[in-house]
Amino acid sequence: MAEIQIKGVAKSFGSYTALHDINLTIQDQEFVVLLGASGCGKTTLLRIVAGLETATTGEVWIGGKRVDHLPPKDRGIAMVFQNYAVFPHLTVFENIGFGLRMKKLPNDEVKRRVERTAGLMHIEQLLGRYSGELSGGQRQRVAVARALAMEPDVILMDEPLSNLDALLRMEMRAELKGVLAESNTTAIYVTHDQVEAMSMADRISVMHQGRIVQAASPIEVYRNPAAEFVAGFIGNPPMNFLPATPQGGGRWAVAGQVLDGPQTPKALKFAIRPEDLRLADHGLQAVAKVIEPLGAHLLVTCDVNGALFRAVLDSDLSVKPGDTLTLAPQSDRIRWFDPETTRAVA
Ligand SMILES: Nc1ncnc2c1ncn2[C@@H]1O[C@H](COP(=O)(O)OP(=O)(O)OP(=O)(O)O)[C@@H](O)[C@H]1O
Ligand SMILES: [Mg+2]
Repeated sequence: MAEIQIKGVAKSFGSYTALHDINLTIQDQEFVVLLGASGCGKTTLLRIVAGLETATTGEVWIGGKRVDHLPPKDRGIAMVFQNYAVFPHLTVFENIGFGLRMKKLPNDEVKRRVERTAGLMHIEQLLGRYSGELSGGQRQRVAVARALAMEPDVILMDEPLSNLDALLRMEMRAELKGVLAESNTTAIYVTHDQVEAMSMADRISVMHQGRIVQAASPIEVYRNPAAEFVAGFIGNPPMNFLPATPQGGGRWAVAGQVLDGPQTPKALKFAIRPEDLRLADHGLQAVAKVIEPLGAHLLVTCDVNGALFRAVLDSDLSVKPGDTLTLAPQSDRIRWFDPETTRAVA
């Protein structure tokens, strides 16, 4: 059992606060992704769990045991670093087997595990090469294989696929997900790639400026973002926003249209995903500005009442800059945010 509990963790570097009161429980065998923009504190939080950084306040528990006073080697974890430190003067085989040798495992067990994890990461043909001779993407896969070979209860991975090309990255993310699910490992995985987060995670923890804004399943984060930041970060392209003025009785004026919404007297923001808009006879009047054919669909960037607005439409649609489109938002997909608190309003 390797549940991870992060309790009230904060971290300051001098006068700068990198993490504010982080509370997160990762269930045994759960795969949690920390997602957020550069500098939001992902690596710092992972290093605190690993024991490579000390929290200013707060506690870390692994498998029901408080570990924040323990050195990294006594926490039962393996970590893949953002800068994937591998030993250049060792072969790929010896790099992957390094931790196993330290644990004094028998040679045939080392060989079995090294070959298995190298195969998973598609680097079995490189086992005899010196790691200093490898490309960045190959070295990164050596680092992942080395962590997997330890068969740890907990694995912490910091952008482990960032140096791979798009195709290999897509293949590796599926493999990694499969391997970790099979091996009953509890995982925290850091990325700023939302597609990777959506596709791999049991739960996504969205971070912003040193805080967790929402921790929920990928579909929940996508459908019901808890805050404007999440709505504007998740999705490609992210949600559209427009100011909404209350008309009374749960009716709202949005860019000249009247829509049903929450019962509250204060002004809100209307939000809709670009893929939840349809061409219709009645709806928002949008002037097309930029048309991007993306193969499977057409991405149209428009102007709605002076606001930037994007719609994902059928790729067969014939539209040119300057055309006016009437876009109807799918009513059950409309979301509302309070501009003061930036939180979602039910
Ligand atoms: N040792 C340090 N001393 C001072 N500030 C630091 C230190 N380590 C991190 N920081 C600051 O803390 C903040 C969070 O850094 P962190 O490395 O956790 O970000 P991140 O979310 O991993 O970003 P990225 O996606 O770019 O890797 C940043 O503003 C960073 O400059
Ligand atoms: Mg980082």
